[in-house]
Amino acid sequence: MQIFSLFSSRKRCLGLDIGTTGVKMVELKKEGNTPVLVNYAISYDSGSLLQSSSLEILDGQTKEIVFNIIKNAKFKAKRVVVGIPGFLALISFMEIPEMPRSEIDQAVRFEANKYIPTPINEVSLGWEIIGSFQDKPMEGGRFMKQQQKLQIMVVSVPNSAVTKLSNITKETGLSQIAMEVENFAAVRCLIGNDKGTFMIVNIGAKATDFTVVSDGIVQVTRSIAVGGAEISRSLASGLGIDLERADKLKKSSQINLIDPRDKMSSLVSPVIGMIADEIKRLREIYHKKNPIKKIDKLIFSGGTSKLASLLDFFTQELSIECQMGSSLARIAVDSKHREIVEKVAPELTVAIGLALRGIDEV
Ligand SMILES: Nc1ncnc2c1ncn2[C@@H]1O[C@H](COP(=O)(O)OP(=O)(O)OP(=O)(O)O)[C@@H](O)[C@H]1O
Ligand SMILES: [Mg+2]
Repeated sequence: MQIFSLFSSRKRCLGLDIGTTGVKMVELKKEGNTPVLVNYAISYDSGSLLQSSSLEILDGQTKEIVFNIIKNAKFKAKRVVVGIPGFLALISFMEIPEMPRSEIDQAVRFEANKYIPTPINEVSLGWEIIGSFQDKPMEGGRFMKQQQKLQIMVVSVPNSAVTKLSNITKETGLSQIAMEVENFAAVRCLIGNDKGTFMIVNIGAKATDFTVVSDGIVQVTRSIAVGGAEISRSLASGLGIDLERADKLKKSSQINLIDPRDKMSSLVSPVIGMIADEIKRLREIYHKKNPIKKIDKLIFSGGTSKLASLLDFFTQELSIECQMGSSLARIAVDSKHREIVEKVAPELTVAIGLALRGIDEV
């Protein structure tokens, strides 16, 4: 009996995304080979923030919200994959000589000392081999000794963040099976193994995360402290209205970012402009390093990507195909809930990606 319950519970997994202004949780259940969304909850707390101004995770409040979500929304699964905010993670790439797998960890730690600004014992390190190659020929047609090298992606996260997130799940009675930086969860949810080179732009409340991914492998990540909260603030101060009204106005479909005479658009455009500038900058850096692989399109997610005319604006401004990510493409949703879930799908991208990892590991 025990074994059976263990087995069946492995078919379910929660994804927990702690954003700057809200907590999002989804529960996926594997039916045959299909992950099915069986439950989700979004809890926004407009009065207070879950991360301080320095974007540090505040565990006290968050714990309470997670606890209430589990209780009120009646989530069944205990297994959970927890997201690590992109701005807390440092993702770097390194090359090391080919060596037995058992020795890689030590070599990565040694190399990481050079890349990571904080002392190595204050961060949790994760790594993955993303490719291998031979030394290139030197100028003049001579060849160096052909040594196989490994390309490694290293993810480092402050121990303090890992501990806080672990405490939240432990004290709310969940069983944490993995932690993952949000960018990777977004890739799993939106791109999976699709071929091509894309940039995911996840515009949340306080931060915007950028992820360049080529043939399923993350190439560049970046996070800036700009998002929907800033847009609401600009509207409130520019129109002399309170934040609550500004927030409603923002979510109505009245903004036309394409029209420079649009009053709201002119108030919001400095914020959107910062996101556009960052995309241009990252695109340039990526194309310089990878002249053959051009970024095919931008894929948007996060609540703020629902801003009216946002996709049209970026398409025009950046002369690149822009599309809304389809967070539900890799999962099934009961048809009677589909309409509601579709409305919040951009906000659920990360949570879905996290839960998908949990059921993929079955
Ligand atoms: N229809 C809409 N139009 C414009 N903005 C919207 C709309 N719906 C929600 N938003 C905004 O989306 C933001 C919330 O998105 P999301 O849940 O992705 O953020 P978060 O994950 O909490 O924040 P972060 O990723 O920065 O930590 C809020 O700023 C909210 O006002
Ligand atoms: Mg978010």
